[in-house]
Amino acid sequence: METRRPPSPRGGRVGNRAEGAQTGGNEGWVWGAHSRVRGVCAIRSELEPRKPSDSRCVFEVRRKSQRLAHTAAQTYTRPVRIGKILVQPDELAHRVKELGREISAEYEGRELFLVGVLKGAVFFLSDLMRELEVPCEVDFMAVASYGSQTDSSGVVRILKDLDAPIEGRHVLIVEDIVDSGLTLNYLLRTLKARNPASLEVCALLTKPERRKVDLPIRWTGFEIPNAFAIGYGLDHAERYRNLPYVAALEVSDAGPGEAGASDTTPG
Ligand code: IMP
Ligand code: MG
Repeated sequence: METRRPPSPRGGRVGNRAEGAQTGGNEGWVWGAHSRVRGVCAIRSELEPRKPSDSRCVFEVRRKSQRLAHTAAQTYTRPVRIGKILVQPDELAHRVKELGREISAEYEGRELFLVGVLKGAVFFLSDLMRELEVPCEVDFMAVASYGSQTDSSGVVRILKDLDAPIEGRHVLIVEDIVDSGLTLNYLLRTLKARNPASLEVCALLTKPERRKVDLPIRWTGFEIPNAFAIGYGLDHAERYRNLPYVAALEVSDAGPGEAGASDTTPG
């Protein structure tokens, strides 16, 4: 059963993608971040308790907030589902093996330090790492990117940094997908400043049409068209990471506060 209930607002974070309440099955809901903010503000102003000690007042406020939340959800949500498959499981497995061979050959005689970008790259990274024949370590970073509804601004905040220093190490950043390239650009600049012996990038997917900065991506799994990709680690509102293939997210007809097919948020 789908419930048209918006997720509770998260404090202190300006997201740049649509987030939606999702329930069981392969379908969910998408809603526009800007519209959400307006909706939430409306709900908040109605929630101001005039007499906090008065239980009748609290009850009325709660009923009103439920009504408003329902209206906001109806106005701002649109169903989403798994769309066209972009990369099949066997194509993923084949390409990961190829990349493993190429990277192993490149780093022969050296030790590799893999940097996975949480959370999306975890699935790709764990498969890739098992194909590597050189000794390697792994560490993770988590970043948040500020931006508008459909574009990342390139202003990135590190949520989780590496545990170990990388000075003098051969570092390979493993990314799930490069969209505008702004997040990766920031990561490259940040890690380069730490003086690694070498710094390269391996991205499972890239969307060349969306690229805003030219980046030295040494290894790429697949180039995909401008669609919002889900599966094999890639999420929409934290769902679909467990799909064994990469698919396009299908969003039903646009409504107010539309969240386009290219919304991005690192993770
Ligand atoms: P960029 O800064 O615009 O290149 O966005 C980079 C990050 O946004 C990626 O590392 C992903 O976590 C996320 N992202 C970009 N495009 C998609 C997509 O199509 N599906 C899921 N996540 C995406
Ligand atoms: Mg990523």
